[in-house]
Amino acid sequence: MVCPCFLREHDDSSQSDTMGNLTCTETSRQVRFNHDLNMEFTVAVTGASGSIYAQRTLVHMAASGVVERINLILSEAATTVARVELGIDLTAAEPHKINHWVGLPADSRLIHLHRLDNVAARPSSGSHPQEGMVIVPCSMGTLGAIASGAGTNLIHRAADVTLKENRRLVLVPRETPYNAIHLENMLRLSRAGAHIIPASPGFYHRPQTIEALVDHLVFRVLDHLGVPHSQATQWRGLKQQPSELIRTRED
Ligand SMILES: Cc1cc2nc3c(=O)[nH]c(=O)nc-3n(C[C@H](O)[C@H](O)[C@H](O)COP(=O)(O)O)c2cc1C
Repeated sequence: MVCPCFLREHDDSSQSDTMGNLTCTETSRQVRFNHDLNMEFTVAVTGASGSIYAQRTLVHMAASGVVERINLILSEAATTVARVELGIDLTAAEPHKINHWVGLPADSRLIHLHRLDNVAARPSSGSHPQEGMVIVPCSMGTLGAIASGAGTNLIHRAADVTLKENRRLVLVPRETPYNAIHLENMLRLSRAGAHIIPASPGFYHRPQTIEALVDHLVFRVLDHLGVPHSQATQWRGLKQQPSELIRTRED
């Protein structure tokens, strides 16, 4: 099991008790509480801008220690955008390439890659049990296909199945500005039970790196999927009055 300790990738360094509580043996710190230890999700990546959101989602799911299997589906456009934005080649992706991308050991079997045209793959059937699905980032094209119910590939089918089985479907749409069709599609999907989490991270945790900025959004996604995380960006309330926070040194 990958240790749930935040972003550490030391295998065999965590122990779980009968309640499912996990303790990192390196730090003796109990880091997770009462989660199933065998969660399965489908993660789909489409051709909207923001490949790094997909990467960080996979990294944090792997680090959670409670996700046993990830079904990964990449659209063709997703590989183009990943090349443009991250300089990586995910075309004809092989397991070791994907593992390297998210910092897992080359022989890790956590992530199972499915071909986009394989509509017979596991996530295509509601009889295959899993917790839910996230599409991150989600293009307007994929959003529209799911909203219309007229899907043509495994991503559309898996999302459709997730909705009909009343499982958690999280969409991370990215476009700017949104036109009326985009907004109506999001409303339609929200009414059908999808969680719409636009790729619009907060700044109130004062991120110093792009990863910290992206993780703020990714942690919200994981919250909606029920996957534990470091909670590094969880808002815990102001101890001071807002006016005290914006005082300058001269005050
Ligand atoms: C560099 C790049 C950035 C893009 N950014 C977006 C975006 O932010 N949102 C979007 O809806 N489409 C975006 N597109 C267009 C989609 O990739 C395109 O509509 C594609 O057909 C979506 O297909 P898919 O949903 O199967 O991935 C982008 C394309 C490229 C090449």
